[in-house]
Parts: sequence; C-alpha cells; structure tokens
Amino acid sequence: MILIIDFGSQYNQLIARRVRECHVYCQIESPDISAERIRSLSPEGIILSGGPSSIYEENAPKADKAILDLDIPVLGICYGMQFMVDALGGIVKGAGKREYGFAELTIKSPGDLFKGIDEKIECWMSHGDSTESLPKGFEITASTENTSIGAIVHRQKKLYGLQFHPEVEHTPQGRDILRNFLSDVCRCRSEWTMKSFAIDAAARIRETVGDKKIILGLSGGVDSSVTALLVHKAVGKNLTCIFVDNGLLRKDEAEKLEKTLTQRLDISIRFVNAAEKFLTPLRGVTDPEKKRKIIGRVFMEVFEAEALKIKDAEFLAQGTLYPDVIESVSAFGGPTSVIKSHHNVGGLPEKMKLKLVEPLRYLFKDEVRMLGKEIGLDEELVWRQPFPGPGLAIRVIGEVTEQRLSVLRETDAILLDEIRKSGYYRKLWQSFAVLLPIRSVGVMGDKRTYENIAAIRAVTSKDAMTADWAKLPQELLGTISNRIINEVRGVNRVVYDISSKPPSTIEWE
Ligand code: XMP
Repeated sequence: MILIIDFGSQYNQLIARRVRECHVYCQIESPDISAERIRSLSPEGIILSGGPSSIYEENAPKADKAILDLDIPVLGICYGMQFMVDALGGIVKGAGKREYGFAELTIKSPGDLFKGIDEKIECWMSHGDSTESLPKGFEITASTENTSIGAIVHRQKKLYGLQFHPEVEHTPQGRDILRNFLSDVCRCRSEWTMKSFAIDAAARIRETVGDKKIILGLSGGVDSSVTALLVHKAVGKNLTCIFVDNGLLRKDEAEKLEKTLTQRLDISIRFVNAAEKFLTPLRGVTDPEKKRKIIGRVFMEVFEAEALKIKDAEFLAQGTLYPDVIESVSAFGGPTSVIKSHHNVGGLPEKMKLKLVEPLRYLFKDEVRMLGKEIGLDEELVWRQPFPGPGLAIRVIGEVTEQRLSVLRETDAILLDEIRKSGYYRKLWQSFAVLLPIRSVGVMGDKRTYENIAAIRAVTSKDAMTADWAKLPQELLGTISNRIINEVRGVNRVVYDISSKPPSTIEWE
C-alpha cells in the first residue's frame, strides 16, 4: 500500500490513479495524520502531493516531520518536496521566475527513480517557490534551465523530491518515474486487482456488520447497485434496500430494476411508490432550485419513514466514491465525512444512530464499473450512464406535470434506443432529452401543428466536472429527430445542444 498525503493539489486524484494503474493499492490521507498512525498502516511508501500554498505562508499545510524518519521511502512532489526540504533544514524561496508549463528536464544522476528514463525529458512545472539549498545528505539528480534543483534524493534515507509533476499527461515519462518509485524504491508488488479488492471488501463488511441489519438507498445507478451487490454478498438477507419511485424516473425504469436486482440477484428491495408525494408539491413550481429542494426534502421524508420500519437496523450502506472522499479530506476541504447532498440521506444516520458503511470509498467511477463486472452485476447496470437524483423533474424545464413527464419519457426512450443501437451509449458520459417550455409551429400531413420542442443533450466527460458536447454523426441525429417527431405526440421540433461545460452545465436545470 502507498499512502498519499494530500497537500491540496488539484492533481491528487491523478497521483492515486497512476498508482492504481500500476496495480498497487493507495489511500489518500490528510496532512494531519500522525506518524504513529502511518506506522500502524505500514505502507510500503509515502507520496507527498503538491499543493497551492507557499511553505512559508501562515496556514500552509504541514505534515508531522517524523514521517520522514519512519524508514519508509518518501516521494515529495512540488510542494511535497518543498515541505520535505523545509522540514529537514534546507531553504525554500520564492523563485525569481514563476515556472509554469513545459520545461526540459536534464537528468544528471538516474539512480533507481530515473532508471530507464531518457537523459532529457519534457516535464510539467507549476510552482512559484523553489528550493535554494538542500538539507544535509541530499543531492541534486535533475534540473531544468530555470530550476537548478529539479529533483533530489537522500540515498540512505530513500527520500526523493521532484519539483515537477510526474502524474500529469504533460510529463510523458512521468508514469515510468512513478512506477520506478513503486517497484524499485518501495518494492511494491503489482498485485492489486478488482478480484482481490472484492474479496477483501466483502470480508471487511462481514466483519463490521456481523449479524446486524443494514439498510441501503438504491437509486438504480451503478454506485448504489454495486454497493448493494457487494454488501449482499457479505451479509445476505441482513441487507434491505429501499428504492423510492419518485414518479420522475425514465420509462420502465423501476420495473427493469426490480427484474435485475430482485429476481436475478435475490436482493431484498422495498419498492416505495411515492410519485404523488413528489408530484403534488411540485405543481406550479418552475424555479429549478425550488424544484430540487422540494424533491430533496420529500425524498428524505419518504426514505426515513421506510427506514424506520426496518427494526434494529444498525448500519447504512452508501455508494460514496473516492472523488467525494478526496474532496472531503482535502487539506482545504471541510469535515471528514461528507454525505453528498444528492445521496439524500443527510440526517438519517444521526437520527437512527446508524453507522455508515462505504465500501467504494477508495474507488474511482471506472473502478466501480470493473468491480461491478467482477462481482457479476448485469452489463446493463454496470454501464449505466449517470442519472440525477431529481430525475426527469430537472429535464422537464418549467412546471413538472404528469403529461409533460410522459412526453419526455417517450422522447427520452427513443433517444436512448437509437444511441444504444448506434454503439454510442458507452462512449458517452450521458445522453438524454430535455423538454422545453416553449412551442413552435410545424406542419404535419398538410396540417399546422403548434407543439413542444425537445432538446437532445449528449456529452463526453471523465468526471462531470467538465464536459464536451458529443460530435454525434449527422445521420444518427437525423434518425433520432425523425423518430421523435413521428412517434411522440406533442413534439414537433428537435434541437441539439452544442454547449460545453463550462460555461454551461450538463443538466439544464
Ligand atoms: P451538472 O448539471 O452540474 O451535472 O453539470 C453534473 C453531473 O451531476 C449530475 N447531477 C446530479 N446527480 N443529483 C445527482 O445524483 C443531483 O441533484 C444532480 N444534479 C446533477 C448530472 O446528471 C451530471 O452527471
């Protein structure tokens, strides 16, 4: 295992990814972690991440200096290296020239970290401060034109520092440098696979939950489905899932889910039909935030009422993913455990005195899909595109009514059918239809029509933080448009959304 200390860099997730790509398990911790705690975790190596601070700033995050004395190899990246230099008595200063962007790194002394790396490589720099003088026992192993101390090492102590970022794509041989650190310096074996993760995770859940009862809010998305299956494998019938049908789901969604999860996998699910409870307070509401708030509140009420019926429950399972955890433990982030607001069970754990079980908290989205496949989740569920908690309510722009939901459902079903048939479904982050609150004039069979407009949204993205509109083939767009206008009563015009995020968002509301 590799421990990554998070000094707040925007690239931390990438460091974790690179380590995982080498099939080595890693965990991100906040700088507050004590040397004692690290010793008890017995990692094979420690990576100190970069960060936006200057080491001399008043509130600059610092780790326990003793971590540099644990006889565990340490790799400091950018701010991480500066922290190490400062902690061991070297000098870090504001550089005359800020260095940002590509630089050519000349490797003077390869050692084990730069083994097999070209003598001159491109690297990505992003720093204001630089190391001016080294602590005792360190030597310079590489430099750039602006930064004479570009990489350092203390050979006996196995302490390494890189002023550049090996984790980003812009450092083409950065992956190899990190791999050298893992394999040659830390002697990690590349054994971490989804299979071993699944076995470990189930064992840990069994150990924690024992023969107590555990509840899970199932949304039908990948994360909650994988969590359900994993927990079910661990504790069987002691798991009860609650699925709230809010009346804002897509066509046939609840039925399909019931089939795959209840019938095929034998997981016990309580289906709560609460459509009326959601649709009634939504009547007449057009403001997007108000709509979201109503849906969030009603969900809480319905979920809670159902959860309270499950007597003696002691645990609540959640499909929290690694990016959420990283955000919450970040040196500049908030509390240590944040329940994403759209998971919608905010106050429940305290109220029912439930303990949280979050088996996916160290996984990325694509790893969750791999895990799902590994433990036998249906392909269709594994590859499901994300669907927002407020459902179709934020895709029926303006007032949400049964009638408008039904028009959108039909439109969306056709769109998804064509996207699936074309082979694009897995290539897209999301693809969906939006029903606009304006009408336009058309002509059908010599008759004037005055009907709704549907917008098609299809985006590619890695993490939904940014997204690009998908360059779908014209023929496919044509087929989708024709089918929608011909088959859905109430839509006589289809438009394609060609905005990216930012500045637009993926959902329209
Ligand atoms: P935006 O519209 O902010 O969406 O670009 C980013 C991603 O988040 C999804 N989304 C939500 N998911 N509850 C959720 O579970 C929500 O309230 C919610 N709002 C947006 C959206 O579908 C996209 O994938």
